[in-house]
Amino acid sequence: MSIQRFLTGITPSGTPHLGNYVGAIRPSVQASLRADVQNFYFLADYHALIKVDDPARIQRSTMEIAASWLASGLDHERVTFYRQSDIPEIAELTWLLTCVTSKGLLNRAHAYKAAVDQNTAAQQEPDAEISAGLFMYPVLMAADILMFKAHQVPVGRDQVQHIEMARDIAQRFNHLYGEHLTLPQALIEDNVATLPGLDGRKMSKSYDNHIPLFAPRQQLKKLVAGILTDSRAPGEPKETEGSALFQIYQAFASAEETATLRQAYLDGISWADAKQVLFERIDREMAPMRERYTALMAAPDKMEEILRAGAQKARKLATPFTAELRHAVGLRDLRSASASPKAAKTSKAALPGFKQYRESDGKFYFKLQESAGRVLLQSTGFATPQEAAKAIALLREQDALALGQMQETFVLQPGISADDVLLALQQL
Ligand code: TRP
Repeated sequence: MSIQRFLTGITPSGTPHLGNYVGAIRPSVQASLRADVQNFYFLADYHALIKVDDPARIQRSTMEIAASWLASGLDHERVTFYRQSDIPEIAELTWLLTCVTSKGLLNRAHAYKAAVDQNTAAQQEPDAEISAGLFMYPVLMAADILMFKAHQVPVGRDQVQHIEMARDIAQRFNHLYGEHLTLPQALIEDNVATLPGLDGRKMSKSYDNHIPLFAPRQQLKKLVAGILTDSRAPGEPKETEGSALFQIYQAFASAEETATLRQAYLDGISWADAKQVLFERIDREMAPMRERYTALMAAPDKMEEILRAGAQKARKLATPFTAELRHAVGLRDLRSASASPKAAKTSKAALPGFKQYRESDGKFYFKLQESAGRVLLQSTGFATPQEAAKAIALLREQDALALGQMQETFVLQPGISADDVLLALQQL
């Protein structure tokens, strides 16, 4: 079973709140710790342009969301963490995909249809004030996902259609140009809590009922004090069912802590005391993160460096893969042999391969060689042939991350770059 790749994007269009933390940031940071998964996390700032025409807000939100992710424990060394617009190949792939996407498919997208319905209801032109960007949103999202050959995309129910569209688009591309794109699957997050807001409705920026993720202690206390409760007096038993205060508490507390508060409700805790308990509990989880967040927000150069390093890592995959796709569709070097179906077959015979052998030191080695004889990489010695074979199998996964993590097991030959190796591996 090959390593699974997960990919998650957040659109930087506002300031993250506690609901985003519980519903998206915290679960994705937890998932990033899994050893059997490769994770891609990115700030979908190309997407932000669809909704936001205030440049300063996009910049600020990109910074705030990146800092929130890092402050919440995302290990940027371990995952691939980048800003979408640092990968110009995504914009290029969007165009290649646009040309195989039927307009009718996009007409059926929920977000576009909802906008049309609103216009119709308001007796406007159906497309009034709808940008082509909104219409193309699903194709841009497909490019995000397909670029990194993601297998699983964790999303809320509202995004499932977009993943299905990415599959459709990928299938159409593969049908026309060969099996280049990996079909992604939606990983539906039903058991992730949606947090109620101050007024009991779902916490959302648009309802103005949210608690900013890293609100300073005093502001947090004030906001918690404003959570809607009923009019039961101190001493009267209280209902946990339908209590926003209780639900928010549950999203942060352990099972025992939750049981204790449940009992306190029955015993008639006053709302003022219950709010104090909630405030202290949230503050306990947030305080260390808030400190990291504040430090990150004060260090834009450090954040910029982190994002650029992430982009570099991501482009190690995106650049050669885009070259492959450009070639597939016919955007080619004029000197390269034209790939008639016949030519494609002969070029298949000229593919590179791995060779395994044993040296006089008793150890087991392999090298990756082009058919013309040029050696691309040479392994270090392994104690057993099985270990050597395992390293080959990992390399065959043909991704730059594996390549980066395996640097001690081989040496590139003079004049050969990691990208040369990736390109060869993709042809195996
Ligand atoms: N559309 C997502 C949102 O608004 C953000 C996003 C953009 C995304 N590209 C993605 C999510 C790719 C997952 C995969 O929440």
